[in-house]
Amino acid sequence: MKKFNWGIIGTGRIANTFAQALAGCGEAVCYAAASRTREKAEAFAQKYGFEKSYGSYKELAEDENVDVVYIATPMSCHYGDALLCIKNGKNVLCEKSAALSLSQLDEMLKAANENNVFFMEAMWMKCRPVYLKALEWAKRIGRIEYIKADFCNLVQYDPKDRLFDPGCGGGALLDLAVYPLTLAYDFLGEPEEIITAAHIGRGGVDLSNSIMLKYNNAAASLNSSFEIPNNNSALISAENGMIIFSDWFFCTSRAALCDRDGKELEVFDKPNEINGYEYEIREVCRCLSEGIRESPLVPHSSTRAVMRIMDKCRADWGMRYPQEK
Ligand SMILES: NC(=O)c1ccc[n+]([C@@H]2O[C@H](COP(=O)([O-])OP(=O)(O)OC[C@H]3O[C@@H](n4cnc5c(N)ncnc54)[C@H](OP(=O)(O)O)[C@@H]3O)[C@@H](O)[C@H]2O)c1
Repeated sequence: MKKFNWGIIGTGRIANTFAQALAGCGEAVCYAAASRTREKAEAFAQKYGFEKSYGSYKELAEDENVDVVYIATPMSCHYGDALLCIKNGKNVLCEKSAALSLSQLDEMLKAANENNVFFMEAMWMKCRPVYLKALEWAKRIGRIEYIKADFCNLVQYDPKDRLFDPGCGGGALLDLAVYPLTLAYDFLGEPEEIITAAHIGRGGVDLSNSIMLKYNNAAASLNSSFEIPNNNSALISAENGMIIFSDWFFCTSRAALCDRDGKELEVFDKPNEINGYEYEIREVCRCLSEGIRESPLVPHSSTRAVMRIMDKCRADWGMRYPQEK
């Protein structure tokens, strides 16, 4: 398989984790790293063995040797950073949530289409072997009736942290709820009704939220929060069985197919080869080598469907980001 030259934009928390996986993937080359600060870019590049470092995102986007860019900036920057890369003909893997709103996302997808480049939200959960196994099991358990999934993570309030800053697209919705919502959408599809409530903190973004998705004869109950700790399990209950993800469902390597009483019938437990991000990296490289512009594992339709639900939640809460008119 051809090796692809990767560029990384932003050198924060997840960029470091991602770079570790990138460095261990044979089909990927750690080619260029960009930061708003030249020194940070140089230090990052040196740490993970990138050939090039740039003190601006624009320089990286204009480097003709970059095949694909991983965007690891705050949510509010994804739209501008992705358009910069796409308009320079770059394929893009963009961190979750891919945009602040569906209208931003649609402009990004339109630009990707017009420039004939690959675009994928970095919804790594959907590329992981355990998740693919659960999707396979779902075909064997009959009609799904109920899903419960939580992502709660206690974080001390800090108005300077992007998580609490509306200007950065902060809030539990885009940061955490995107995972349980993606799970619910993948296993149950588009909901007929969305019922939601949130605790909006002093900064103006949701610190906690509850989302109930109603379907014809099914429901999903999803909670996300920065205010409480939780084991973050996920459970899919169906007519003839259950799928239970172990704690921290979106990054666990273990899930079980159970009977209606919760007795384990089959267990899937495959440790990560690197740190779990290798699967999305390989999926992007596979798509690029096959010349396809959209991953079948993370299709644009699912990113759009989840974004549409998040738009609806924010509309119900009256929560708007400063970037929105
Ligand atoms: N897939 C996952 O498991 C996972 C986990 C955590 C986060 N994420 C996602 O990854 C993205 C980044 O999250 P993170 O936790 O890595 O954030 P972070 O630690 O704050 O890093 C973000 C980086 O973006 C750059 N940046 C550009 N404009 C910025 C601005 N206005 N304010 C702050 N930083 C800015 C900075 O890099 P430079 O200074 O080098 O330019 C910064 O270090 C988010 O979309 C988040 O949802 C994904």
